[in-house]
Amino acid sequence: MIPRLALLALVSAVSSVAIAQPATPLIHTPSGLELSSPDHTLRIEALRDDVLRVRIFPLGHPPEDASWAVLPQALNSRIPVTPEPTGFATPALRVTVSPDLQLTVSDLSGNVLQQDAAPVLWEDTGFRVAKRLPLNDHFFGLGDKPGPLDRIGQSFVMWNTDAFGFQESTDPIYKSIPWFIEMHDGRAMGVLFDNTFRTSFDFGHQRTDRFTFSAPSGPLVYYLVFGPDPKHVVETYAWLTGPTPLPPLWALGYQQSRYSYYPQTKVEEIAARLRADHIPSDVIWLDIDYQLKNRPFTVDTQAFPDFPGMIHKLAAEHFHTVVITDLHIANLPNQNYAPYDSGVAGDHFVKQNGKDYVGPVWPGPSVFPDFTRKVTRDWWGTLYKQFTDMGVAGFWNDMNEPAVFTYPSKTMPDDVTHRIEEPGRPSRLAMHPEIHNIFGMENSRATMDGQLALRPNTRPFVMTRASYAGGQRYSTTWTGDNSSTWNHLRQTTPQLLNLGLSGFAMAGADVGGFAGSPSPTLLTRWLMLAAFQPIDRDHAAKGTRDHEPWVDGPQQEDIRRRYIEQRYRLLPYLYTTAEATSHTGLPIVRPLFLEFPHATADLHPLDQDAPGEFLLGHSLLIADSPSPEEVAPYEVHLPPGLWYDLWTGEKLDRRLATTTRDLEIRDAPPPALKPLMVTPGPADLPIYVRGGTILPVAPLVQSTDEKPSGPLTLRVYPGQDCEGSIYQDDGNTFDFRQGAYLRQHFTCTLAPDGSVTVSIGPREGSFTPWWTQIQIEVLGLTTPPPKATAVGQAMPLQHTPLGWTTTIPDTTQPQTIRFE
Ligand code: NOJ
Repeated sequence: MIPRLALLALVSAVSSVAIAQPATPLIHTPSGLELSSPDHTLRIEALRDDVLRVRIFPLGHPPEDASWAVLPQALNSRIPVTPEPTGFATPALRVTVSPDLQLTVSDLSGNVLQQDAAPVLWEDTGFRVAKRLPLNDHFFGLGDKPGPLDRIGQSFVMWNTDAFGFQESTDPIYKSIPWFIEMHDGRAMGVLFDNTFRTSFDFGHQRTDRFTFSAPSGPLVYYLVFGPDPKHVVETYAWLTGPTPLPPLWALGYQQSRYSYYPQTKVEEIAARLRADHIPSDVIWLDIDYQLKNRPFTVDTQAFPDFPGMIHKLAAEHFHTVVITDLHIANLPNQNYAPYDSGVAGDHFVKQNGKDYVGPVWPGPSVFPDFTRKVTRDWWGTLYKQFTDMGVAGFWNDMNEPAVFTYPSKTMPDDVTHRIEEPGRPSRLAMHPEIHNIFGMENSRATMDGQLALRPNTRPFVMTRASYAGGQRYSTTWTGDNSSTWNHLRQTTPQLLNLGLSGFAMAGADVGGFAGSPSPTLLTRWLMLAAFQPIDRDHAAKGTRDHEPWVDGPQQEDIRRRYIEQRYRLLPYLYTTAEATSHTGLPIVRPLFLEFPHATADLHPLDQDAPGEFLLGHSLLIADSPSPEEVAPYEVHLPPGLWYDLWTGEKLDRRLATTTRDLEIRDAPPPALKPLMVTPGPADLPIYVRGGTILPVAPLVQSTDEKPSGPLTLRVYPGQDCEGSIYQDDGNTFDFRQGAYLRQHFTCTLAPDGSVTVSIGPREGSFTPWWTQIQIEVLGLTTPPPKATAVGQAMPLQHTPLGWTTTIPDTTQPQTIRFE
């Protein structure tokens, strides 16, 4: 191994050679520029005002113009730019290049947003891009990599890995999402380094004055995505790679899993107990033991004598069943194993030395579909027919890094060949190191496309363990084999937040921890927190103690039920948020800086001081303890503005600057806000509602199949820009695309005399919702309102633990209600 210092010396020696090289004249192109050194060409294209594609390639050898991550419409988009002597400008950015192909990107006010620290270093072992790292830079993204939310001071490798027993410092783990957001002084710039090989990222770890990204092979292509608002960067990433699609409503319900529920009677027992104990729930998961000898697409009919009957029975009890379907196909020639036989007949498996590559996984020796061929993905999709015919609702693609047992590398060898055979891109062979990181994503793509082919009007539900940038188009995900420890409970927050910033809005972590056995209090706190995370799935490894909500007696079960019930009451808000995500790409759970990039005096991203805090959607702030294992006081850092306690309705006024404009007109930075001190009890999780929120809340149901009975409640938290909305549809099909949905906006105003006016906007869409009445509950009124009026009529008012409420018929027309 080369010592680090020697390596750095080598790096700078090579850099200085490169700087001395002359360059050819700069060529302006309609949407960017091209500049060549004797060895390389730099080509920059503006895809939008705020998105640049940068490519550097050996002279005369441009790389393939294709991507597994970036959508064709983004890849082909161009805007005209204004040429300048040393670069060009777009309506948002100024690009300058130097003769040695170094790049500086600034905004139009002259703020340098990103600047190369050295020319690209090209070596036999690959290439490295180095950018200057100013003080106060912070980095987010890179998918599910463990560790703190902010990636500063760390380095990472992208290589999808079966990482059973991973810890906070384990790297790499399951996914490779080479996308990060650089935050500096409240300004955000995103970078997608679209290279599928084993890439590396260093954010000031080796050298504190630069950050780097490098690859051993493959194209040097990266996209720069300018904000300055971090929300805008995340939305633009969704423009590049696609947003998380709208999930079926049931996927937002509580989900019960274990490795493994079998035999059939055990599954039925679990379902019956969930209902008997009134734990609202929607999904039962079946892990590998439902299969015959762990062979994908089979059923062990001894343990499950009536599998289709069980699926129907579960459905009748309002459970959706998700089953595992790993990608490895048992290598069973001449044994009437249809997935193998049809796979061989269609030549669908990856090769080594010209023969089907065979490696050991759960079923023993296995073969692996060649998912980078469309024809193979189409074949894979057909394997689901027997399960979709039975009514299995969703599918789980595990082990798709791909995990292969016995090799020290835990995956297939580098000399395995894959075929790239895709419409719209040149067909060729590729060695495993190029395909490894996209293999899991293409597996989930095949599964999703298969669902769409088999049930065209049902929203697919797929969950994958491995993926790459853009994989959110095909599948939800989870963070793999975590452990039943307090550290891992804490770790779920940064992992899910960074996944959300990396496109995967629908993500969860095994609730209770996969490896090991959680103590009763750990399991309770995990179930409490997960009620506010996008996917709420309790899952456990074989041989660990039981994890279901009832296992620790009625006292713990009551607390766990209460939080799951809260999730179900908030489903209208959660579903509305998920629907917005499917257009905007904004995550369901968000770091605070996404909504409040200018909240701190030094423009340091807010949640760094409060690692247990995150936002659920735009309006709810969850403030878990940094040490949830103890009942101890801790600081809650609420962003400036008005906040309400979700549980008590108490109003917390923290009015300070909230916008960039406010900051610009100040002479000095805003004073630091004093944190709140809280000491929640073992059954308490502090949650705050942003002032100006109108929160849609439903009556409690035991599953999303159940029609809520009673009015829709609009909980009004008066404050600045007071508004809310609701989105509803049938929760399952694509009929919303033909207009079968409901969307409604609400606003409220608080007059100086203390009166509150709530306006219900017009309904959009043809969907008829479950409610016929709307209950309006106004919080934060200091004096009781003497009356409420709607359409000139006095309405009866009631006092609730949180505020004052009145109920009006839903006329389906716009209405105005005054509390005065
Ligand atoms: C590994 C997965 O990460 C885990 O969730 C699953 O239970 C086991 N494989 C068995 O399928």
